[in-house]
Amino acid sequence: MNREKVQIFDTTLRDGEQVPGCKLDTNQKLVIAERLDKMGVDIIEAGFPVSSPGDFLSVSEICKIVENATVCGLTRAVKNDIDVAAAALKHAKRPRIHTGIGTSESHILHKLNTTPEDIIARAKSAVSHAKSYVEDVEFYAEDAGRTDNAFLAKVCEEVIKSGATVLNIPDTTGYCLPEEYGAKIKYLKENVKGIENVILSCHCHNDLGMATANSIAGAINGARQIECTINGIGERAGNTALEEVVMIFKQHPYLNLDTNINTRELNEMSRLVSESMGMIVQPNKAIVGANAFAHSSGIHQDGVIKNRATYEIMDPLDVGVNESSIILTARSGRAALAYRAKKVGYELTKTQLDTVYIEFLKFADIKKEVLDEDIHQIIEASKIQGDL
Ligand code: KIV
Ligand code: ZN
Repeated sequence: MNREKVQIFDTTLRDGEQVPGCKLDTNQKLVIAERLDKMGVDIIEAGFPVSSPGDFLSVSEICKIVENATVCGLTRAVKNDIDVAAAALKHAKRPRIHTGIGTSESHILHKLNTTPEDIIARAKSAVSHAKSYVEDVEFYAEDAGRTDNAFLAKVCEEVIKSGATVLNIPDTTGYCLPEEYGAKIKYLKENVKGIENVILSCHCHNDLGMATANSIAGAINGARQIECTINGIGERAGNTALEEVVMIFKQHPYLNLDTNINTRELNEMSRLVSESMGMIVQPNKAIVGANAFAHSSGIHQDGVIKNRATYEIMDPLDVGVNESSIILTARSGRAALAYRAKKVGYELTKTQLDTVYIEFLKFADIKKEVLDEDIHQIIEASKIQGDL
């Protein structure tokens, strides 16, 4: 059965690059953009062109090399931002301007010090102005997560009339619960005139660790674009992690949703972004962390050696990892030791394994992890002592 596509909008080079100390130069951005394009990302948010001459240059150069993806530039609902973004996107095969304004009470009253009516007027005028340059205009309602649904629906309806093709509903502060965010998307689907002609987009931050869950809830309730970053990097606690949403759809076919991403590129992509930004990936990070396919307790190792599916819900090859690893520690059992010993060239009988295991445990209690060379040393020492 043909699954419905969810567009993947990667904002590693814009929201992702807002991580303090992780700035990329134009060349680094070009390498990442080219790889994102090859991996099957549908939209690459290349930057915020008005923010600096360097960012303008990066967006403009990225437009020249991206073959398939739409290239998007961010703006505020400000005429000059939009003019500058349009100039930066001049060479894009498929340009998109992403413009918007805050819609929550806190943004309207405290950040923008204005009225709801003025917000709607500014939103409409920004979308119309962007539309004078490009066909594809995405509107973001900043802090939509904390915006009253009825007002949000009104803003959406007005910007659709002005020509918006995509409506981004950001949970800017990462506050929503998945049920709440999903219900917001459902409400908009059911209450905004003209919604059937536009794509609803999820842009969720991870302040409470719910960015991915919220994005999935959004898609289940009708959103067909997810904004995300490699390794989940981004402002504060980060954004939805691209690798997570892509693998969730792949591993849960009954959701009937899919993406265009070549998942075998995920691991390399993660490493490229991490190395370019000098930002390590936490070892327990889902999908791309160093421990995502590593098994270290005896019970788990025994299960995985007998049948991988006992403790693994996806094939490491599907995300570009050659094989799962059996890490030898003081918590490992005989099955894991025999398995690793065989890999380094020793086929041990049951009695030999019992003897080596006693020596192994003494070693493992001192060392955090027992490596191939340690196994070699333990077995050879046992041979010299005549124990084997
Ligand atoms: O989090 C947010 O609201 C944003 C918008 C600028 C899209 O990043
Ligand atoms: Zn954001």
